[in-house]
Amino acid sequence: MKKIDMHCHILPGIDDGSANPKETLAMLRMALNQDFVGMIVTPHGSVRNASVERVQEIRTLCKKFRIQAYQRLGVRLPVFPGQEIMYSVDTRQLLKEGKLLTLADSRYVLLEFLPGTAYSKIFSAVRQMQMAGYVPILAHVERYHVLREEGRLEELADTGARIQMNYSSIDGGWNNNTAQWCKRQLKDGLVHYLGTDMHNSGERSPQTEHVEKWLNKNLSEDYVWALIQGNARRILDDRGSHKPKT
Ligand SMILES: [Fe+2]
Repeated sequence: MKKIDMHCHILPGIDDGSANPKETLAMLRMALNQDFVGMIVTPHGSVRNASVERVQEIRTLCKKFRIQAYQRLGVRLPVFPGQEIMYSVDTRQLLKEGKLLTLADSRYVLLEFLPGTAYSKIFSAVRQMQMAGYVPILAHVERYHVLREEGRLEELADTGARIQMNYSSIDGGWNNNTAQWCKRQLKDGLVHYLGTDMHNSGERSPQTEHVEKWLNKNLSEDYVWALIQGNARRILDDRGSHKPKT
């Protein structure tokens, strides 16, 4: 099934993802083989590296990537700039100043937290972002043990926050606690997006085939579509809604 990736580190030399254009191409080949038809690229952003120049660099790399995809592989790949932002109290201000990026210039913002962050802090971050007019998407929720407590994903989703999970985290047997937890959340319909979070063509490459088989076997067709493509399309439909004051 066709997919849109809304969490990936495929741009070369900008973060701990792809090291160079050759690696980017290798990752892209793998992604195309798995039927990805569009991407929102999400290099890491934080209060430490936020700047108008970095945002511009991401936009330029994004354009170059699109050209590279066409020239080298003959693919007209829709690619949009975004960031995975390590949340801090300054995030909203930095977004307003155009020093950090939302996803595809929409109101959706992909957020991550330090692993040991308290639930109250995550909840309050979500509310702060919403009050400022953003739609927070929590990146790879499976990483935070505080979110594994019964009812917490639901509580966050009830506020309007969106939940993202990595394909790779779902891929595991009955003795893999993380995979089991992820599968349960999916069966309960608490997840909104799946992303590759690909960083390279090696151990953090886009691998979705095995997981897709599980999704198709265990979830409704409509829900699978929403997870792998439909909800990402809604982000793209909101393109241009975020206008920083620069
Ligand atoms: Fe990531």
